[in-house]
Amino acid sequence: MDLVTKAKWDKAARNFDVMAGFGPEKRWAPVKTKLFSKMGTGRILFLAVGTGLDVPFFPPGRNIVGIDISDKMLEKARVRTDAYDGKIELQAVDVHDMPFPEGSFDQVFTSCTFCSVPRPVEGLKALRRVLVPGGELHMFEHTGSRYFPFNSMLNQMTWLSKRFGPDMNRDTVTNAKIAGFTVREVTHVYLDVVKTISATA
Ligand SMILES: C[S@@+](CC[C@H](N)C(=O)[O-])C[C@H]1O[C@@H](n2cnc3c(N)ncnc32)[C@H](O)[C@@H]1O
Repeated sequence: MDLVTKAKWDKAARNFDVMAGFGPEKRWAPVKTKLFSKMGTGRILFLAVGTGLDVPFFPPGRNIVGIDISDKMLEKARVRTDAYDGKIELQAVDVHDMPFPEGSFDQVFTSCTFCSVPRPVEGLKALRRVLVPGGELHMFEHTGSRYFPFNSMLNQMTWLSKRFGPDMNRDTVTNAKIAGFTVREVTHVYLDVVKTISATA
């Protein structure tokens, strides 16, 4: 496990709900609800559960393995996962080092994660390994922008934001392609910065 990354997110867990829980979650709720409604009845991996802010948007009755590198995040998530009307098994796991055999899952879902995972292409390749061939990856992500002045602003913000939390300027669509995924659909939610990405392994 990458202990530097774990320590950063353990620290961020203290105030995470104050920073992310109110504004962003209310604003993106309909988008996340629509994205997570794609959860089927097969084996589902949810990467980067964080404090569980995404859980209220999951459809009921699913069987989900939820992972995060930070056990401090997962401690906070338990209140929300316990309230879920279905099964969520939590494990403190680094995406770069998952203990699951190849093809363990039919679908992977994640939200605001590939701004944070230190080696995004390697992390995405690791997800491809644990998916069945043709398995689905669905992401809600914020990324860098192609357009001035947003690209420049997000590059400058990253210098500071990465010390405490995420990078603001990643190109997650390209990273998914480099990792070997076939990107099926990209939906822009806010400018070309906040988006959903659906891909197959
Ligand atoms: C910005 S938070 C998003 C949390 C949650 N999905 C949400 O939207 O509220 C990023 C999360 O990624 C997790 N994370 C960062 N690097 C990781 C890694 N290598 N493996 C697993 N989780 C990781 C952090 O611990 C943190 O909970």
